[in-house]
Amino acid sequence: MNTQRLSNTIIIASGKGGVGKTWLSINLAQALVNQSKRVLLFDGDLGLANVDIQLGLEPEWDLGSVLKEKCTFEDAIFSHKINLRSKTYVDIITGRSIDGAFTTVSKAGVLSLRDSLTTIAPKYDHMIMDLSAGLDQIIQEFSTFACQCLVVVTDEPASLTDASAFIKVTSQRNPDLPLHIVVNMAQSDKHGKKTYATLIKECDLFLSKAPALVGIIHQDHSVPDSILHKTSTLTRYPNSQAAHAIERMAIELLGLTE
Ligand SMILES: Nc1ncnc2c1ncn2[C@@H]1O[C@H](COP(=O)(O)OP(=O)(O)O)[C@@H](O)[C@H]1O
Ligand SMILES: [Mg+2]
Repeated sequence: MNTQRLSNTIIIASGKGGVGKTWLSINLAQALVNQSKRVLLFDGDLGLANVDIQLGLEPEWDLGSVLKEKCTFEDAIFSHKINLRSKTYVDIITGRSIDGAFTTVSKAGVLSLRDSLTTIAPKYDHMIMDLSAGLDQIIQEFSTFACQCLVVVTDEPASLTDASAFIKVTSQRNPDLPLHIVVNMAQSDKHGKKTYATLIKECDLFLSKAPALVGIIHQDHSVPDSILHKTSTLTRYPNSQAAHAIERMAIELLGLTE
């Protein structure tokens, strides 16, 4: 098995669901495109894929079609005009929300996805993978592809405990994968820093080096409102705190990956 990491791949993970991974993946992809980067957004949440739902997309082919061998990996990539005004595009492979058919993928399926991603990787500066919540095997398999992992956390106790468990398992199975923390839905920067400190205190019990904080995103009404309007927050509310926080995060990530 080819265990080499894809040097341009960033996975977006969490312990608990509903913390904003999909929303972050979409908006981070757009922020990187705004920095003149070529980006592929890959919906790897195979059970409850919802990049397509948040953006109101109805693609002809998706990851489900690829895994069922109805189309090639390349056929499932489509260019989505994410900002009509600035005419910016993000290439997207959506998952499969409609029938939730892919809660599991065979080992052969994962290896074939890895081969396809390896082939396609040189076309992009960054590949963003939105993963499902939790610790299952498929997430750990995807973690072996990536060169960076963003762990999204909120101040909810369950989110913190589950993030800490995710970090523990991932750092044991993938000790060379750099982990970074994004605090989402924070009441303020001060609260966000406190949430990060709480998480790091738990991680100190099993990690020698704490994952760095790469961004604090406030609880912001612009987020659900843009999802309701099936568009990104960067497009609908470019001056919101959430949009600015994502743009800063994109620049910070460019510093880490280039
Ligand atoms: N910064 C934020 N402020 C307010 N609501 C948010 C924020 N981030 C995410 N949400 C809300 O959280 C919900 C879950 O987001 P989603 O991206 O689907 O999470 P996940 O992919 O982790 O399950 C959405 O309804 C979204 O509107
Ligand atoms: Mg999601």
